Amino acid sequence: MIATSPDIDTLARRALGLVGAGGRTIVGIAGSPGSGKTTLARAVARRACELAGAPLAVHLPMDGFHLANATLDALGRRDRKGAIDTFDGWGFVALLNRLQSELDHTVYAPGFERTVDEPVAGAIAIEPSARLILAEGNYLLAPGAPWSAVRPLLAEAWFADAPEEERVRRLVDRHTRHGRSPGAALAWARDVDGANARLIEPTRDSAALIIRSGGPA
Ligand SMILES: Nc1ncnc2c1ncn2[C@@H]1O[C@H](COP(=O)(O)OP(=O)(O)OP(=O)(O)O)[C@@H](O)[C@H]1O
Ligand SMILES: [Mg+2]
Repeated sequence: MIATSPDIDTLARRALGLVGAGGRTIVGIAGSPGSGKTTLARAVARRACELAGAPLAVHLPMDGFHLANATLDALGRRDRKGAIDTFDGWGFVALLNRLQSELDHTVYAPGFERTVDEPVAGAIAIEPSARLILAEGNYLLAPGAPWSAVRPLLAEAWFADAPEEERVRRLVDRHTRHGRSPGAALAWARDVDGANARLIEPTRDSAALIIRSGGPA
């Protein structure tokens, strides 16, 4: 396991180096809420496309597999949205399998729209030319079904890391921007996001790279 500061160019070259002659290569980025997974995956995908001179790399967030708010209400889980059982994990695994096997047509993935706080079907088009997938999300390396089926589908697993204080600051900032009061934002970051982080943090042990931001390298 190697700890590194986020050098996007080096990471993009590393990911491109994993791409084989045929098929698709999936690099997975796990990490606690607010650790920088989305920012990292986007930047690496963008840089990989620049280096390849072609739209070879795509960012795929696990966030598109959030259950709908109505479903969470029916299950009584809305008050802890973001927990491991508030995602369609089987759906995410099925999409990764489809990406490995379906190369002759566009594969559509759901996105997550923060402004309406809901997943949106078909938001991300993954074209046959996309051979490198930067998949990212909280539970990519979590133990137990269905999440344990993710790791074998990855060419490499990375873990985004940031000091807890910094993550909480980022999360409070995001929650307040999306309409929560400062008190409610802090409570959600500490209680709901915090409980999720306790489950996610030990999963760093199965990552090949730990990529730090927001603290000493
Ligand atoms: N390397 C970095 N340096 C400073 N700020 C960063 C860095 N990476 C991400 N951030 C900021 O931290 C916040 C959270 O980042 P991001 O959305 O990428 O995290 P995440 O792990 O995807 O979070 P979530 O689990 O909630 O989806 C954002 O406001 C982003 O701008
Ligand atoms: Mg994210």
